[in-house]
Amino acid sequence: MDTTFDSKQFRGALSAFATGITVVTSRSADGKDFGLTATSFNSVSLDPPMVLWSLDCKSSNAAAFEQVDAFAVHILAAGQEHICKQFSTRGIDRFAGLDLTRGHGDVPVIQGCTAVFECRIAHRYQGGDHVIMVGEVLSFSTAPSDPLVFYRGKISGPFCTAEPEPELLRA
Ligand SMILES: Cc1cc2nc3c(=O)[nH]c(=O)nc-3n(C[C@H](O)[C@H](O)[C@H](O)COP(=O)(O)O)c2cc1C
Repeated sequence: MDTTFDSKQFRGALSAFATGITVVTSRSADGKDFGLTATSFNSVSLDPPMVLWSLDCKSSNAAAFEQVDAFAVHILAAGQEHICKQFSTRGIDRFAGLDLTRGHGDVPVIQGCTAVFECRIAHRYQGGDHVIMVGEVLSFSTAPSDPLVFYRGKISGPFCTAEPEPELLRA
């Protein structure tokens, strides 16, 4: 597609939208855990409960995500910067040193996050050079920890959620 603007400048403008930081994990049929850091997460629907994130088609995880029907989205908490880095670094064991449990579909669930959404993949949509992954939320958990916030290409903060609305913490 012809555009009249520079893609780096486009990325820069997109980075003005402050987001949280997530790690999305899954597990292949032959028992390999995989996952990546993603800031493209967002909510979609309350009924049915749905969320989305988008996956770069060039990701080393792209083929693996085509083969599975479940993922877990972890909203990282303050103090989990190392997990953000670990899941965006190539050529390492991204799960090394993490406290894990198993969720739906045996998907690895990282402990200590602000929230975790365990999902069944409901839809995949091609969106340019990304695949939009829409998950139906099967279960979730949340904790009153401070978040990691990503803004203008950097982890910003600290952001304090000392007094979250109590009804927003009920799982
Ligand atoms: C802060 C941050 C946000 C990212 N968000 C996304 C995203 O939403 N979708 C995506 O496919 N990759 C995203 N990435 C890139 C992946 O985490 C990963 O670094 C990249 O895909 C290279 O590794 P891979 O080829 O093994 O996936 C993000 C990376 C960082 C550091």
